[in-house]
Amino acid sequence: KKLAVFVSGSGSNLQAIIDAIKNGEICAQISCVISNKKDAYALERARQNRIEAYYISKKDFPNEIEYEKYLVNFLKSREIDYIILAGFLYIFSEYFVEEFKNRIVNIHPSLLPAFGGKGMYGLNVHKSVIEYGVKVTGATVHFVDSTTDGGPIILQKAIYVRDDDTPESLQKRVLEEVEWKIYPVAIKLLCEDKIEVIGRKVIIKDKEI
Ligand code: GRF
Repeated sequence: KKLAVFVSGSGSNLQAIIDAIKNGEICAQISCVISNKKDAYALERARQNRIEAYYISKKDFPNEIEYEKYLVNFLKSREIDYIILAGFLYIFSEYFVEEFKNRIVNIHPSLLPAFGGKGMYGLNVHKSVIEYGVKVTGATVHFVDSTTDGGPIILQKAIYVRDDDTPESLQKRVLEEVEWKIYPVAIKLLCEDKIEVIGRKVIIKDKEI
């Protein structure tokens, strides 16, 4: 299967996916990495791994729809099977989402539907988790629909929040203990056609999970 990975930041999840492909866990290839931030370290990671890396920003287009049309053509001409959002700071419109229905996935650093939606990204999520006082947090891999963080859930994994956690310490633990583990697993399942979507419900056809 051919993947396109969209990024805006450090790309540690991209790295986890690259590693899982290299060690044979995921049977797929990353055809391209696309960033909407010029200086995203993720672009550097892609180049280091000889993956085509592109900076394509909405800024260079007259409006959102022209930007998304360009991306749709770009992805279709490369015959991309799945679009993997890995820290991509942009909300796609209904047009884009419909073009790739059930073929776009995202990872969010909380147990959705808690601590999701507009403004909930990066450290904000972990800060809100600590301020609310919840005892467990984690991450969610989900399909992307036109609602922010609202698409059908594929995988979730929880960890405990500690009394002395800071947003930074929690972000680190959620990344290392949850995100880098569950995202490659979800992508593996997707590439092996082991995921079925029935309305809001995602059925995983794998005995191991
Ligand atoms: C991750 O926390 C992910 O859940 C969120 O954005 C962050 C990206 O981190 N969507 P990285 O760029 O993969 O290191």
